[in-house]
Amino acid sequence: MCGIVGVVGTRDVVPLLVDGLKRLEYRGYDSAGVATLVKSGALERRRAEGKIVNLQARLQEEPLQGLIGIAHTRWATHGAPNESNAHPHATERVALVHNGIIENYRELGEELLAKGHKFQSQTDTEVAVRLIDQYLIEGLKPEDAVKTALGRLRGAFALAILFHGETDLLIGARRGAPLAVGFGNGEMYLGSDALALAPLTDKIAYLDEGDWVVLSRDGARFFDADDKPVQRAVRPTAISGAMIGKGNYRHYMLKEIYEQPAVMGDTINTMVSPTDRWVHLPDLGIDLAKISRITIVACGTSYYSGLVAKYWLERYARIGVEVDVASEFRYREAPVDPNSLSIFISQSGETADTLAAMRYVKQNGGRTLVIVNVPESSMAREADGVLPTKAGPEIGVASTKAFTCQLVTLAAFSLAVARARKALSEAESAKLMAALMEVPAHAAEVLNHDEDLQALAEKIMDARDVLYIGRGPCYPLALEGALKLKEISYIHAEGYAAGELKHGPIALIDEQVPVIVIAPSDSLFEKTISNMQEVMARGGKVIFMSDKAGLAHVDERTFATVVLPQVEPFVAPILYAIPVQLLAYHVAVLKGTDVDQPRNLAKSVTVE
Ligand code: AGP
Repeated sequence: MCGIVGVVGTRDVVPLLVDGLKRLEYRGYDSAGVATLVKSGALERRRAEGKIVNLQARLQEEPLQGLIGIAHTRWATHGAPNESNAHPHATERVALVHNGIIENYRELGEELLAKGHKFQSQTDTEVAVRLIDQYLIEGLKPEDAVKTALGRLRGAFALAILFHGETDLLIGARRGAPLAVGFGNGEMYLGSDALALAPLTDKIAYLDEGDWVVLSRDGARFFDADDKPVQRAVRPTAISGAMIGKGNYRHYMLKEIYEQPAVMGDTINTMVSPTDRWVHLPDLGIDLAKISRITIVACGTSYYSGLVAKYWLERYARIGVEVDVASEFRYREAPVDPNSLSIFISQSGETADTLAAMRYVKQNGGRTLVIVNVPESSMAREADGVLPTKAGPEIGVASTKAFTCQLVTLAAFSLAVARARKALSEAESAKLMAALMEVPAHAAEVLNHDEDLQALAEKIMDARDVLYIGRGPCYPLALEGALKLKEISYIHAEGYAAGELKHGPIALIDEQVPVIVIAPSDSLFEKTISNMQEVMARGGKVIFMSDKAGLAHVDERTFATVVLPQVEPFVAPILYAIPVQLLAYHVAVLKGTDVDQPRNLAKSVTVE
């Protein structure tokens, strides 16, 4: 939810810190700040409300130097997004940046007030820095002060901590929010993820749950949750500085939409052998032929990919599937059948609710499989089995390429389960697999219609409400299309199962309401057409997304049409994601919203 960077270096660290923050801005952008040790050894801060460009302006006004420092970009959880609540929080002895939530901040705050501390912010973070400060006042050394404070904090946090006068000491800690250590030449780094450190190093070690780490220019000393010295593996990270530029695209989101044919191809090739054109899964530690049922848990767009998979697994693999949003699942105390498989889907692999749901299943003896886009993420490290998507870094807050890579992964997985359960004939399996292998090429075809979507965006950009409807595996696509439009253009939009309209939502329809009908010509096409007729009979502006065969059924009353390739219904939901992404993107551009960093949002929701 927030982004953290720390550097203990041999050169001026402020440009490195600010560049790291810009790579983390997708995690939150309500305010930003840096702190360094200046020549005298004193701690100095510069902070600014809003985006990192405001911090850069602040640094222009009042430059800051130093060879060691920490920095933070914030998504507010406690306290308004203003300068006084911006991190780093500091006393004269210690400065700290924090990602997460300190749950017992009230009781600790009262204790510190009683000891004479005067708080300057409404944040939970300031309690953490003042707790460490109190232990320094009581004479503990920095490492011991941090160790003691960590033992008293409850909640989730990743911390980077800097001390007055300590020119070669940075301390980091991780509990429930990711933190990486970067190894440079005579420099050491802390970052919320490898992306932040990509231009500085590709040698990364991730802290495990409960770890804390002491950095100096010549290395790192790791300690586990019991304060015992431990080693953490240093791995070369695949992320390069080049992978995260916008290239010639106006926004990361557009770049990532256009990357979909390539990255879907990479993801399919990770799972499907070109020789026998069949799915080869990594060892998931479970016999797919013997699983009793499947539960899928995720949030947001990742939840919608899980909903699509439900249709595939039930129809082709003949296995019962339950899908739930993580924030509900984790508190339902659902019974966990040891013979069932629980799948957790997450682009970031760090979403707090999804991670907690996975831990619930593990604690209750269930088998866990994760589908993640970040192989070093917490979920990837803690699950029994991992199916990695190969979407590459996704910077736009609105998920696009990660979603379609989740879908191709789930499609291949569904075919593998179907074969393991002997639920599909060889011929049927081969036909569906062939359709899946064709998806990247068809996706490139769909992108050729970008101008049609741009023209369509102009027609709906002033709508107050927009409805999306679909049936079967295209119903979750209606939900996803509505979410895309909502989250980047701020237009109210809802997705509905087409058959549900007549049970109430049709009351919303009038001449002002565009209705996006997602209807490949499949077995449910006729039913969807009838729902479309119901909408047109009430003056609704129908925008009909279908293939050539489907478009033959529409008449002049249709407000607009979007033609897609004629494909096997099995893969239609994957392809129909692209026009709804492009439509939302172009509407947002026309409305002038911040496409890559929409208001109130962050890329990875690592707090509850
Ligand atoms: C997607 O466009 C949204 N930004 C959001 O719903 C996202 O899908 C959700 O927060 C889940 O994130 P995850 O995939 O990283 O777990």
